[in-house]
Amino acid sequence: MNTTPWAGRTVLVTGAEGFIGSTLVDLLLERGAHVRAFVHYKPYAEKGHLSHLLDDPRVEMLAGDVRDPGRVSEAVAGCDTVFHLAALIGIPYSYDSPGAYVQTNVVGTENIAEACRRHSVRRLVHTSTSEVYGTALTAPIAEDHPLQPQSPYSASKIGADMMALSHWHAFELPVTVVRPFNTYGPRQSARAVIPAILAQLHSGAREIRLGSLTPTRDFTYVTDTARGFLAVAECERALGQVVNLGTGREISIGDLAQALIVASGRDARVVSDPARLRPSGSEVHRLLSDNRRAREWAGWEPEVSLTEGLKHTSAWVAANLSLFAPGRYQV
Ligand SMILES: NC(=O)c1ccc[n+]([C@@H]2O[C@H](COP(=O)([O-])OP(=O)(O)OC[C@H]3O[C@@H](n4cnc5c(N)ncnc54)[C@H](O)[C@@H]3O)[C@@H](O)[C@H]2O)c1
Repeated sequence: MNTTPWAGRTVLVTGAEGFIGSTLVDLLLERGAHVRAFVHYKPYAEKGHLSHLLDDPRVEMLAGDVRDPGRVSEAVAGCDTVFHLAALIGIPYSYDSPGAYVQTNVVGTENIAEACRRHSVRRLVHTSTSEVYGTALTAPIAEDHPLQPQSPYSASKIGADMMALSHWHAFELPVTVVRPFNTYGPRQSARAVIPAILAQLHSGAREIRLGSLTPTRDFTYVTDTARGFLAVAECERALGQVVNLGTGREISIGDLAQALIVASGRDARVVSDPARLRPSGSEVHRLLSDNRRAREWAGWEPEVSLTEGLKHTSAWVAANLSLFAPGRYQV
């Protein structure tokens, strides 16, 4: 077990109860950190994917909302490193409620950056997304690729990234923007394509209903993404910079569905469902990462192959089918 350099550090993770956040919390604990987990306050006391850590003395749970600067400041006080993952992430819901994305993603990030400045944290790692690039104009996509806001979600993440980076330029706040391409694995919600397909397969559907089948994506297994967060947080060269996290391989959604049919051992036909199509100008047709910065600057390598990762994810969805409503399209 590698306990350095995280041993004994107090680390804040926002969005800690989410898919990537909870995986990052598990990894930080494995590396010896003390974790302050900022979880979105909900009146029905739900702790998302952190229920296995509720009584763990190494984890301090703090319920709050990133839109509240006072609560955010309390959460950041005394932390060495802040990993900011809290965000509204669904693209379809961003068509319905763009203002909520501005508040949570842009204003929330400003609150985090401001609190990190006030409390002099060693490093803020802010989470971006490959969606900010829009359809690849050149591939693979390097960090200097133009940013194209093809959805309100993408626009809000571009705003958030710029807010975080402005604190580096204007105030020398030690910020790194980590930009994951599509991440998948256990704990992901049914709003994402891989669990959406697997939930339909494991519930015995003979027809898998999907949006467009031709777009390509670069899928990274969640434990690889989490290791990437730790690697960039330790990388001096990444200060004030954006670092892509992706495998450098792409697969179309149609081919992915076929790979999932194999991984799940089920049999089904894939059909395109018009209700799941994005508006045409909003569809991102190609995302493929140039991951040289992550490899060369931070020494990061993805370790889990797509075949292996899809098998693990399939087994997790099969064992947790009650979390999904397979026949229904969740915005
Ligand atoms: N999953 C992917 O493929 C992917 C790819 C690129 C980037 N990202 C980014 O990674 C981060 C984590 O995404 P995820 O896939 O784990 O999604 P997720 O929805 O599981 O996690 C997001 C978390 O943010 C929390 N949150 C939402 N609004 C909040 C608020 N107002 N205050 C406090 N917390 C709030 C949610 O409760 C949730 O736990 C996001 O910033 C997302 O944009 C995800």
